[in-house]
Amino acid sequence: MTDLSTLPLEDELGDVLEKAMRRKGVTLDEVAQQTGVAAARLMDAIDYRPDLTGDDLRRLAAFLGLNEIGLCALGTGSYPQPEIGTLPFCVWPLRMPHGIGVTNAYLVGECGSSRAVLFDTGAGIDALAVVWPRSIKQLDAVFLTHAEAEHVGGLCEVVARFGAPAAFIPKGATAPCGQPLGEGETRTFAAFTVTAFATPGHAAAHNCYLVRAPEARHGAALLISGDLVFAGSVGGAYFSHEQLQLSLKRMLAMVPPNTVIAPGHGPLTTAGNEIRYNPFAV
Ligand SMILES: [Fe+2]
Repeated sequence: MTDLSTLPLEDELGDVLEKAMRRKGVTLDEVAQQTGVAAARLMDAIDYRPDLTGDDLRRLAAFLGLNEIGLCALGTGSYPQPEIGTLPFCVWPLRMPHGIGVTNAYLVGECGSSRAVLFDTGAGIDALAVVWPRSIKQLDAVFLTHAEAEHVGGLCEVVARFGAPAAFIPKGATAPCGQPLGEGETRTFAAFTVTAFATPGHAAAHNCYLVRAPEARHGAALLISGDLVFAGSVGGAYFSHEQLQLSLKRMLAMVPPNTVIAPGHGPLTTAGNEIRYNPFAV
């Protein structure tokens, strides 16, 4: 598997502070007043010029309800990125530029097979073609985490080109060529199963997918987390802060700690790492 565990994080300290302020519904001035950290220094942190001390970060974590250890680690550029264990199937992370960012899709298949399942289509078929592994010729299915342009580009073309019999989308989402897959529904492939979990928050219709190999004696499960959780952060709560928080806690509590998390942006991580350090997982 390509090593995606040591890539830069999707969100820096400033992004996390901004998301946490939005979640709490407080202004910069209110945070400054309540924590004693000057508004100008908070603004600098949000503008990616942080000079906050450990003491500042501890007060901010307490006021904003964030994991103190994780926030301090982000503040010093030392957020822990765990070792990614062995999986009982092969995973190809597909990283594609989109706008000013990068979006991830993932192929999962039996090692040595030319067939795989695709999670999200990323920026579109041209972007996918650049990163597509030559060995994969056929798709057994496509699963979408949510119907945002940077994750569902060219879905119908992908389905047609790779002969995918089905493209699953979260219940309530609309995407051409997609059919809904709701909470707890499982699809079985040769070497693994994929179970959908409804995880609203970033979007009203958002699924995470848990990939497991029930027959395998070793190896972790894989959680395709879309824009619910990233290493060190969460997706923007464009639908609901409360529901994102509930979805995050539910998913992290549900899976074993060694579960590998494959997010829609940024590096791979594990459930255990995010339970311990993710600023929002409190
Ligand atoms: Fe996204």
